[in-house]
Amino acid sequence: MTNASGARPPLASILPTSARASDDGHLQIGGCDLVTLAAEYGTPLYIYDETTIRDICREYRHEFQGRLPQLRVLYAGKAYLSPALAAILAQEEMGLDIVSGGELHIARAGGFPPERMAFHGNNKSEAELGEALDAGLGRIMIDNDHELDLLERLVAQRGGKPSVMLRVTPGVDAETHVKTTTGLRDSKFGFPLDSGDAERAVERMLAADALDLTGFHIHLGSPIYKTEPYVDGIDVMTRFAADMRDRHDYTWREFSPGGGFAVGYTPDGLPPSIATYAETVANALHAACERHGLPLPEVHIEPGRSIVARAGVALYRVGSRKEIPGLRTYVALDGGMADNIRPAMYGSAYTALLANRVHDAAEETVTLAGRFCESGDVLVKDVALPRTQPGDLVAIPSSGAYNLAMESNYNLAQRPAVVFVQDGVARLTRRRQTYDDLLALDVLPEGSS
Ligand SMILES: Cc1ncc(COP(=O)(O)O)c(C=O)c1O
Repeated sequence: MTNASGARPPLASILPTSARASDDGHLQIGGCDLVTLAAEYGTPLYIYDETTIRDICREYRHEFQGRLPQLRVLYAGKAYLSPALAAILAQEEMGLDIVSGGELHIARAGGFPPERMAFHGNNKSEAELGEALDAGLGRIMIDNDHELDLLERLVAQRGGKPSVMLRVTPGVDAETHVKTTTGLRDSKFGFPLDSGDAERAVERMLAADALDLTGFHIHLGSPIYKTEPYVDGIDVMTRFAADMRDRHDYTWREFSPGGGFAVGYTPDGLPPSIATYAETVANALHAACERHGLPLPEVHIEPGRSIVARAGVALYRVGSRKEIPGLRTYVALDGGMADNIRPAMYGSAYTALLANRVHDAAEETVTLAGRFCESGDVLVKDVALPRTQPGDLVAIPSSGAYNLAMESNYNLAQRPAVVFVQDGVARLTRRRQTYDDLLALDVLPEGSS
């Protein structure tokens, strides 16, 4: 973000790339003034910068494809999915990793082609697997033997030979939050390697010949701020691929090191660049394939968070204030854990700025609390801000991933509106929930209105 003097405050590295400050001190994204957007759509409001999303999709393709010519970039829809986003991703020639029939439905509503989707999850239902087969999904990721049973039965009924990848738990520590680490032996996801389960699944698939096993998949966790776990994962998986070739005459055609590429939530917690991740994965894979005499597989990467986190800004209005002398000042916002559970769930750190007074100097350190009935509903602890007044607008950068995806109606709050902005145009992609929406699923008692 540039200000009137042309200086670049460090927040620019975590705000959308189109973020600017107007002369009168308003934060602008995609050429749209956030003070105006708040007046028009209300708060809390989620604002997504389309340019940032498109630029990051292109950066992934450019950086990885330059080093790994056979490449697919699949956006992990669990980070945030809406028809509007699905349509942008389809235009950007991305693939899509989905984890439920619901995500399949939303993606299709945005016109996303099923053949570019891969279906993940540790407990896909028979109905969902049937929907995936009927829709002609590009890949189904096999997570466990139960799924193999279901799929073999469904394929026997329907015919065809769907393309599948085997999800393997490689026993690699991604050194991320315990609730979001997935590559360790003690994980609910995937076939363990060291127990021989992964090898037995390969044998079974080759013997049954009902499924086309294209290769292997790992996902180590999220967010992964170091590059070493990817190197370790590739090392383990190329050894496994070489073993499968030697013992079962099976040669992989595809490999996925998953997603998990990190983002900056605060200016002092920036991740490696996409180029650095790409260089790491490509170098490790080229070297390991050469070492084991394996062909270089087509590589599928699955970034979720890193495609949308930076593009999204959450906008709240300041309400009450509570000062506890010598201890802490709470400034309460009109959103909180119902639209962003991450601080309460993972202790995630964020920072904030005043969207209506960007040029004002910081005067005090406050804690930004949510409005929900939990003491843990704190969005930002200890942030330096100008002295806030009720009605001021607080913007929290890097809010685009896993906020709305994990939102709830806790305290029967209405879910916020979402706008996509670009070139000075704001497009409402989701309206704010109404009180009547809160009743939409209820069967009302007789006689009530
Ligand atoms: C299989 C798989 N791929 C990709 C991702 C995306 O991770 P991230 O959003 O950190 O890139 C996840 C997230 O949990 C996942 O489980």
